Amino acid sequence: MAAERVCALDDLEQDTAVRVLVGGVPVAVVKDANGDVFALGDTCTHGDISLAEGFVEDGGTDGPTLECWAHGSRFSLRTGRPLTLPAYQPVPVFRVTVEGDDVLVDPTPVPADQLPA
Ligand code: FES
Repeated sequence: MAAERVCALDDLEQDTAVRVLVGGVPVAVVKDANGDVFALGDTCTHGDISLAEGFVEDGGTDGPTLECWAHGSRFSLRTGRPLTLPAYQPVPVFRVTVEGDDVLVDPTPVPADQLPA
């Protein structure tokens, strides 16, 4: 499927997440401190909580993360993998393209074998 425009780049504040719908699926879109934009499945794999309501953090060597406010699991923005319990299943990762001021998200999750190790 073709990537969908989800918002303007200027709509994204640094180190905050925005919940959007991509192909009807809730996705958390994040611009980190370096200006890189990421898109993860918005629903925490530990409970029915919107990750976009959580906290963007610099995870050091783990890279930028998105922390679920409910019980504190931190998900890698690069891989969708939880770096801390209680969540142990990854959330899907979606490809992001920035064209001018438009942020586009591909509705097909990135296959696990194409994610960073
Ligand atoms: S609901 Fe997200 S860590 Fe529990």
